[in-house]
Amino acid sequence: MFDSAEERKACCVDHDSALERFAEMRRESEALTANLTPEDQSIQSMADVSPTKWHLAHTTWFFETFILTRLDPNYRVFDPAFAYLFNSYYEAVGPRHPRPKRGLLSRPTVDVVAAYRDHVSTAVTRFVDEAPAEAWHAAAPLLELGVQHEQQHQELILMDIKHVFSMNPLLPAYQAPRQQIRGPAAALGWVEFTGGLVEIGHRGPAFAFDNEIPRHKVWLEPFRLATLPVSCGEYLGFIEDGGYARPEFWLSDGWAAVREQGWEAPLYWRREGGEWSLFTLSGCCRLNPVEPVCHVSFYEADAFARWAGKRLPSEAEWEIAAEGLTVAGNFADSRHFHPRAAAASPAGEKPILRQMFGDVWEWTASPYIPYPRFRQAAGAVGEYNGKFMCNQMVLRGGAAVTPAGHARATYRNFFPPSSRWAFSGLRLAEDLG
Ligand SMILES: [Fe+2]
Repeated sequence: MFDSAEERKACCVDHDSALERFAEMRRESEALTANLTPEDQSIQSMADVSPTKWHLAHTTWFFETFILTRLDPNYRVFDPAFAYLFNSYYEAVGPRHPRPKRGLLSRPTVDVVAAYRDHVSTAVTRFVDEAPAEAWHAAAPLLELGVQHEQQHQELILMDIKHVFSMNPLLPAYQAPRQQIRGPAAALGWVEFTGGLVEIGHRGPAFAFDNEIPRHKVWLEPFRLATLPVSCGEYLGFIEDGGYARPEFWLSDGWAAVREQGWEAPLYWRREGGEWSLFTLSGCCRLNPVEPVCHVSFYEADAFARWAGKRLPSEAEWEIAAEGLTVAGNFADSRHFHPRAAAASPAGEKPILRQMFGDVWEWTASPYIPYPRFRQAAGAVGEYNGKFMCNQMVLRGGAAVTPAGHARATYRNFFPPSSRWAFSGLRLAEDLG
């Protein structure tokens, strides 16, 4: 995850700051799940979804496996059977329980998982507190990776419980309703970029995942990018124009998905008596035309763009546009857990990019492939990203369920093109000249 010894050193903050960050992140995972019952935390509603308690245990296993059992000779494993239950996909670490069967694990119970978390958190804290310089040098990058990893799972906890609750005819709400901005709509504008020979990718010394490096050159033709993500109202226009019934807008695989899955609208949209409503983490609510559309697949994003006479931006275009912007927006710390409409901009204001960060992950037209000269790290942690660089598309920017501080302009999220349970939306781009 680090380009050089210099970057590794820069990231090796002092023990106390690292422990403070670790403890705060662990508390956040527990806060996000505090209102969920043991029954809620055990359900797996589809193969892509994991039960809440599995996320809580797997993120703990990560610290236990990659830090404590390797670097702390005094560590006592909590339960040797957990290595099989909570290994996600690390071939180098050993065999594992099949992913689609995580919902069959009534044991360990939520209480035992909580005890496992306490055991590992206490051991990590003691180890870091007492680690001599050499051990700390080895552990610090792994501790940071473990924190970033658990933050990714915090987002998954929210994505997954939303899907779990959506499957229940009672439509339980994860949290109380939140206030929405219902208009007036912010005016859509465009920001132009000259393109040319540009550089993208992470520049140290702060943490980045290995898929964000090396920084490298890319050629861009002149383009422009919409100032706002596509709204529910704009997307409704696509639906009402027969978008889901007209193959001319769809990629071949997308059209096959529409027919096989019976898609007629984004995931979590429901139509009753001619009225559209959405299922959210705050329960059902009336469709809000001015908020960003969410829970569309890459195929739907691409079809919408074609219908609109535009296209999706490449990830390099998105990154060049986002470079230099403040990474702020509607992230998980707002506790809204749903995209929000942009406030109307003052009349005559020069078009500026808004909501690039937070609200919805934005699908790009770029396949998730390694950057030029990418090298997978040695050992099991090298499996973190590299082996997934096939058959997935890149999304940028972060969403309303992404932990604040976890996103950045170079961050590459990725999902298969048919996935809809992530908080995924889109922003339009267009060629210039
Ligand atoms: Fe994981």
